[in-house]
Amino acid sequence: MKFFLDTADLAEIEEAASWGALAGVTTNPSLYARIGGTFAGFPDHIRRICALVDGPVSAEAVGSTRDEIVREGRELAALAPNVVVKVPTMVEGLAATRVLANEGIRVNMTLCFSVPQALLAARSGARYVSPFVGRFDDISEDGIEQLSDIVEAIDAYDFSDVGVAGERIEVIAASIRSAQHVTQAALLGADIATVPFNVLRKCVEHPLTSNGLAAFKKDWEKVTNA
Ligand code: E4P
Repeated sequence: MKFFLDTADLAEIEEAASWGALAGVTTNPSLYARIGGTFAGFPDHIRRICALVDGPVSAEAVGSTRDEIVREGRELAALAPNVVVKVPTMVEGLAATRVLANEGIRVNMTLCFSVPQALLAARSGARYVSPFVGRFDDISEDGIEQLSDIVEAIDAYDFSDVGVAGERIEVIAASIRSAQHVTQAALLGADIATVPFNVLRKCVEHPLTSNGLAAFKKDWEKVTNA
């Protein structure tokens, strides 16, 4: 499973990229608003993220109609070769995804909450589909179970004839809130988990690693002082 960082914060992206295991970034309008982003500064901000990451960077189209989404999608895709256009899973989004995919523009279908939505996203030519885990948990439903069903359904079919040529659709486990979510997403076969920076850090850390490291350092001091 690959790790994407779920943020629009340049410092977080730069730091996570330096760890050597980052495969991509996902942003959304809320994440961009959280860092105080402006409308005028958005294209340049996406360009800067794309320059920091060796991998796909999802930037979200906010239009409501297929024409608006297609226009935005083309503009976003022109910002950098690694831009992926994030499109909401809805009728106008599906229609726009088909047009963009036919032009070779990669789409990440977002706000996906069911197997039928994921299958339609795949059929419309999406390069990625993003089931949201945490938002199900927020309403006391099992987000991991939904993710598992979506991974199974997508894996059961061949979508190679409907997407960007030569590339298969990948499932991004999104709305990830904990390292436990990451474990579960990996075990059920999600291709990618997109995680906030604090969760990525928690994925690296383990109390037994810290305790073991402290003990090794202490014992090595005995060796060097002997
Ligand atoms: C990523 O693609 C999603 O936009 C993001 O994971 C949503 O996360 P949230 O439910 O924590 O806002």
